This record gives sequence, C-alpha cells and structure tokens, in this order.
Amino acid sequence: MKAYSLRYNKAFQVGLWLVWLSGFLLIALSLYAVQRLPSLRDQISKPKLHRKGLRDVTGPSITIFSAPSPFIGTVGARQVLAVRSWLALSPDVKVVLFSRDPSLVSFAATLGSRVSIEPNIDFTFLGTPFFHSMVARSKLSTSNISVLIDPEIILLPDFISTLNYAYKLDHDWLLVAASPNVSRFMFQLEKSGRHWLKDGEKLQEFLAQNREWSCDGRMLMAWNIGEQPLHAGVLPPFLYGKGIHYEWVIKEALSSDFRFIFDASEAISSFYPADLDNWPNKIPSGFSVADIQDKSWEYSINSYLGKRYGSLYFHGANFSKNLVKVVKCDGHYLYIDAIENVVYPFGNRNSLSLLKARISRSRGEKKCIKCVECSRPLDRIMDCSFKELFKLSTPLFLPFSLESLLPVIADKDKTIVLAVAGNSYRDMLMSWVCRLRQLLITNFVVCALDQETYQFSILQGLPVFNDPLAPGNISFNDCHFGTNCFQRVTKVKSRLVLEILKLGYSVLLSDVDVYWFKNPLPFVRSFGPAVLVAQSDEYNETGPINLPRRLNSGFYFAHSDSMTIAAIQKVVKHASTSDLSEQPSFYDVLCGEGGFNRVGDDRCLEPETNLTVHFLDRNFFPNGAYQGLWEKKNVKASCMKKGCVILHNNWISGRTKKLGRQVLSGLWEYDSSTRMCLHSWDRSQTKSRRRKKRRGSF
Ligand SMILES: *[C@@H]1O[C@H](CO)[C@@H](O)[C@H](O)[C@H]1NC(C)=O
Ligand SMILES: *[C@@H]1O[C@H](CO)[C@@H](O)[C@H](O)[C@H]1NC(C)=O
Ligand SMILES: *[C@@H]1O[C@H](CO)[C@@H](O)[C@H](O)[C@H]1NC(C)=O
Ligand SMILES: *[C@@H]1O[C@H](CO)[C@@H](O)[C@H](O)[C@H]1NC(C)=O
Ligand SMILES: *[C@@H]1O[C@H](CO)[C@@H](O)[C@H](O)[C@H]1NC(C)=O
Ligand SMILES: *[C@@H]1O[C@H](CO)[C@@H](O)[C@H](O)[C@H]1NC(C)=O
Repeated sequence: MKAYSLRYNKAFQVGLWLVWLSGFLLIALSLYAVQRLPSLRDQISKPKLHRKGLRDVTGPSITIFSAPSPFIGTVGARQVLAVRSWLALSPDVKVVLFSRDPSLVSFAATLGSRVSIEPNIDFTFLGTPFFHSMVARSKLSTSNISVLIDPEIILLPDFISTLNYAYKLDHDWLLVAASPNVSRFMFQLEKSGRHWLKDGEKLQEFLAQNREWSCDGRMLMAWNIGEQPLHAGVLPPFLYGKGIHYEWVIKEALSSDFRFIFDASEAISSFYPADLDNWPNKIPSGFSVADIQDKSWEYSINSYLGKRYGSLYFHGANFSKNLVKVVKCDGHYLYIDAIENVVYPFGNRNSLSLLKARISRSRGEKKCIKCVECSRPLDRIMDCSFKELFKLSTPLFLPFSLESLLPVIADKDKTIVLAVAGNSYRDMLMSWVCRLRQLLITNFVVCALDQETYQFSILQGLPVFNDPLAPGNISFNDCHFGTNCFQRVTKVKSRLVLEILKLGYSVLLSDVDVYWFKNPLPFVRSFGPAVLVAQSDEYNETGPINLPRRLNSGFYFAHSDSMTIAAIQKVVKHASTSDLSEQPSFYDVLCGEGGFNRVGDDRCLEPETNLTVHFLDRNFFPNGAYQGLWEKKNVKASCMKKGCVILHNNWISGRTKKLGRQVLSGLWEYDSSTRMCLHSWDRSQTKSRRRKKRRGSF
C-alpha cells in the first residue's frame, strides 16, 4: 500500500526550487510504483480483437455466479430482472445459479442456454447456501473473469467496460463493489433484453438522483482467473447473505497481498430496487408471495465465525479506507487512495504521464475532487455494516428442539433418519451427512452427545439437537465397542428412538460408520408396522443370520406403532439395568435369551408385543466382518458389484483404525481442511493435488 502513498501536497506549499526536488522524488517513487502497481497491458502484446466468423470477439469471457432464493413473489421478480440485466450486458456473459430448487431448473430454461443451475454445493438443512462452497466452485470457472454477485443486483453496461479495463491490468486483481438501492424503479428491460425503457427518462440520470447507500451490505466481487489465489488461509463456513463474508474476504485478500484489490462501487452502475410494488408487470405468472422466515440467528453464526477467524482486524475496523477506489471521471478511470488523499490515472503505465497528472494539479484535480467527494459515503456504508453486525454476539444455538425439528425434517411418510455422534467421530459424521446429501436424502437429524459436536454441527448446517441426558465425558479415542463409554453412548440411542417413535415418527437409526451406497428407506419401510428391520452381525457366509447376539443395533428401522413402541420400551428398560451395551438387550429382549423367539433363519417374534424382528440380508447389508469386504483392494467396487445397499465399518477396534480404513477405501465424502463435502467438481482437483503431493514427497 505504501507505493500508492505519493505525498506531494506539502512540496507545493514551499518554493519553486522544491518542485524540482520533489519532481525527482516523484520520478523515483513513480518508477517504484510502476513496478508494484498493476499497469495497462501492452495493447500490442495483447491484441484486443479476435476475428471469429463474422462476429468480433472483443472482451474476456465472464461467468456470473449467484445464489438466488426460489423465484417467488417480489423477491423472485427482482431476481428475474437482475438475471436478465446480466445477460443483457454482453453475449459472452454466462450465468451460473447455485440452487437445489427444482422450480429453478425449468425457470432457467426460459432464460436461455447461457443460464445454468449448479445444485452441487453445500447448503444448510434450511436451504441456505454456504459462501465458502460457492467461492470454491466459482474459483474453478474457466472463464477469464468470475463474478460473484447478490441475486437482486442489477448491472448496467458500464460494468463490462470496467471489467474489460481491469482485465488489461498487468497484475492479478480482485474487484469489490457495494450496491446502492433505489426506490420507485419503473424501468423495464425491453423484449430483446438490451435497453431499459420508461417514457424517455434516462436510467443513468434516474440512478444518480435516486440511489442510496444503505447498510445491508449487498455486494459483488469479481476477479480475473490469474495465477494468484484470492487470499491466504481457509475461508470459514459462512452462510451466504448473512453478513461478514465479503468483508472477511476483502480483509484476508488485503492482508495476504497476492492481488491488487480495489473498490469499484462508484465506477460501475449497479443497484437493487428497494421496492418493486410499482413495478409494472410485477410477479411473473404462476408465482405467489413468499413467506419469509425469520432467520436472524443465521447472522449470529456468521458473526461468530467472523470473530473467531478474524477478530484482530474486525474490531473497530474501517479497512475500507485501505482499499484503493476506482472511479470514472469524465470518461477516465482514476485511482483514489483515500488515506493519502491521492488521485491518479487508473492503469497508466507511463510514468511520465503519471508524473504530469500529479504535477499539473490545476484542471485535472478539480474534476477529480468531485469524484473523490462522491466516494465519501462509501466509507460510511462499509463501516456501518460492521458495527451493526458485530453487536450480535449471542452464543451459538439453533432455535430448534427435537420436537420442533421433526416436522421440518421428516419426509411425507413421517420418517426420520437419526444419527447420534460425539466429538471423536465428528468428521465421520460429516462424511456420512455428505453421503446422504449426495443421495438427496434430507430427512435426517443429528443428536449431539457433547457441546463441541453441537457447535460443529450448527456451523456445518446440520439439523442438530442436544441430548440433555447424554453421558458426560465421552472419551475421544476410547469409545469403541466393548468399552464402558460405548455402553453409555449406545443407551442414548434406544432412548432417543423411543422418544421419536412416541412423537409419531418412524426412525431409521444409522451409526455414522455405516456407508450408504443407496437409499435404504424405501426397502426397510416396505415391511410395514410391527416389524423391526435390523442389520445382522453374522459374519459366517452360510447358515442362519438370527443367531444369538447377531442383532446389530447400529442400523435398524423402527416403525411408529404401538407394538414397536412397546417392544423398544422393553429394550430400553432392560438396557438401563444391564452392565452391557444396549446391543445384547435388543437381542435378548426381542429374540429371547439364547434365541428362544427365533422364527426361521432370519426372524424373531417377540411374543408379548407381537413385534417381528427381520434380519437384513447380509449380502446387501453387510457388516464389517462379512466376506472381508473392508480388506478388498477396491472396497467400493467390490461392494457395488455385490449390490450392497450399505456397508458397516464395524468389527474393528480403535478410532484411528476405523477412520483410516474408511478414508483409504474412498468411502469418504468430506474434506475437513476446507469443511466442505466433496463434490464432483472438486474431486478431480483433490486427486491432482494428492498426486502433486505424492510426487513432491519423493
Ligand atoms: C480467455 O481465456 C482463454 C482461455 O484461458 C484464452 O484463450 C483467451 O485468450 C482469454 N481471452 C482474453 C480476452 O484474454
Ligand atoms: C435503501 O435501503 C435502506 C435500508 O434498507 C432504506 O432505509 C432506504 O430507504 C432505501 N432507500 C431507498 C431509496 O429506497
Ligand atoms: C478510521 O480510521 C481513521 C484513521 O485511520 C480514524 O481516524 C477513524 O477514527 C477511523 N474510523 C472509525 C469509525 O473507526
Ligand atoms: C466420567 O465417567 C466416569 C465413568 O466412566 C464417571 O464415573 C465420572 O463421574 C464421569 N465424570 C464426569 C465429569 O461426568
Ligand atoms: C459357519 O457355518 C457353518 C455351516 O453352517 C458351520 O459349520 C460353522 O460352524 C459356522 N461357523 C461359525 C463361526 O459360526
Ligand atoms: C398378539 O397376537 C395374538 C394372535 O395373533 C393375539 O391373540 C394377541 O392378542 C396379540 N398381542 C398383542 C399384545 O397385540
């Protein structure tokens, strides 16, 4: 930043002889500045025009990424208008919308082939996209320039000219811009999507008079594909659109100093309509008004992350002053360094003309002062967005109890998938969750056994609740099968299952070390009421699968009905007085001690409650000891060939061994370093990174 600080004001107040001295100083400084500053690329070395058929392809390719909410009501109308304004910028603009909403797919089709939908990023259980996941996906774009923008921001063509200008900089860059709002916005895009119309009135003039910089922090970021990363460090899992994340990126980018970072809020015309009630053809047909949920607690999550991963800079920050602004003044782009009060031409590599621009202060400076003054309000908005957000410092909690989560989470058959996890298995929990998300299974809830897991799960966007009766000290490394800790933890599970059944929901309980190849729900549910469907722990390849103590209580389905509830109640009671884990209680209560209640080779009938236990076929629901599947060279392929629905990573002792074999087998779907699920788009990246690492280590 020092290089921009060309102080010369004082030199002028002294004598003419000093002008010469400062002149030399300035030449030296400017030469230094030219080395550091991004400068215009030589027009010759970078020809502007490429002949391509009949059309001139002039500019860099641009992909605009955004994460709209469903296209409903006035919010939807604003988003439609915004997307159309982006498409109108240039035929070389492509738009990628992050969404899992099926209605958006058909909607995108009506906007043409330049708009595509990307559902493969991380979302919270309420559908809020994760900013870190959006950025990671956007960074993989092959366009010359990527833009990440809020879905209601309308862009006018000077955005493209600014990007084209920036693209010629001899330096990797990151452009940021805040967006003002306007009310009484009556303009419409005409059919071809090229021009904004309203009986003769000019949009630019309307904007100049009606825009207002507000505190709600709507922004866009753009960067050239370049060689330098945007910033050092790992982007925390910020929730998109809930504050702080843009500021965090700017702050990190500034302190890592890889790129030239500038604020172009005033060089481009961007805005969002504050109200569209007067908008002529308001709501596209087929949409109704959305009911907006109050999700203010999501802001506390970002606030928490901002404090935890950037506290030094954030307290009392007004770093926007440190940002070089770019403005357009009389058709020329200018840099403004607000700290040093210096204005100079943007991207001009000629040190002599730079010098001239500084020394002949007369005409040039007056014009520029007008622009500098225009930029003042910007400091205010960026500062205020901080202050307001950092007042929020509530502890992290999800405003949902188990009872209130169930109706939100359950599927149409009132079925819930339940996982119970403590901190030692939180990465495995995430891998399990990511796998369910891949299978488009959303009706799962997580019971956190400790505060760390609860907090972690909230930050990962999981529907989580705390079990107040959970055993206190769950050992990090020694809570495996057979230990005291294991016994206490398993007893939590049957108690919770019973509670959920009583609330009227059927439960598929799955340990987080169960890898799901397919969605087992349709099959396990097909047995109907009064049948408990459970995995068998039989490792023998032949013979019955319902022999004593072969019921695995880490994967079972319980239907919500009176017989099942009565039976599970017996199990919970038995387990509470037993010195063992709950697993033997399940068998001894339901199948009778020694297998007294066995029916055939794969069932039991509990006579008092009439509950049938059905053991799942070991070939489709194998346990960890069956056929040595975990020892196969390619676990995934072998299991898929057999037709595995699930594979349990049990029959192994110790946390690290268990984790190890699952990660090595490739049945692992989570990247704990970036805190994101693995997606098809970053799998190839991860592989090539691994390859590089391996090569490097030899
Ligand atoms: C944009 O990127 C492509 C591929 O990286 C490159 O061939 C092309 O020259 C770039 N366009 C411009 C205008 O620099
Ligand atoms: C812009 O937004 C702010 C806050 O959301 C609001 O107070 C202000 O009235 C809006 N301005 C216009 C011109 O609509
Ligand atoms: C911003 O920084 C300037 C100087 O760097 C300081 O004088 C001013 O008080 C700061 N403003 C706020 C709101 O912190
Ligand atoms: C930790 O667990 C042991 C049993 O394993 C128990 O005796 C002890 O009271 C527990 N401590 C706390 C703080 O919960
Ligand atoms: C496995 O099954 C076979 C045949 O049913 C039986 O002979 C053998 O004893 C069983 N092995 C175990 C360990 O149960
Ligand atoms: C169990 O089934 C038998 C015969 O079908 C019936 O007589 C008995 O009442 C049932 N018991 C319960 C608890 O439903």
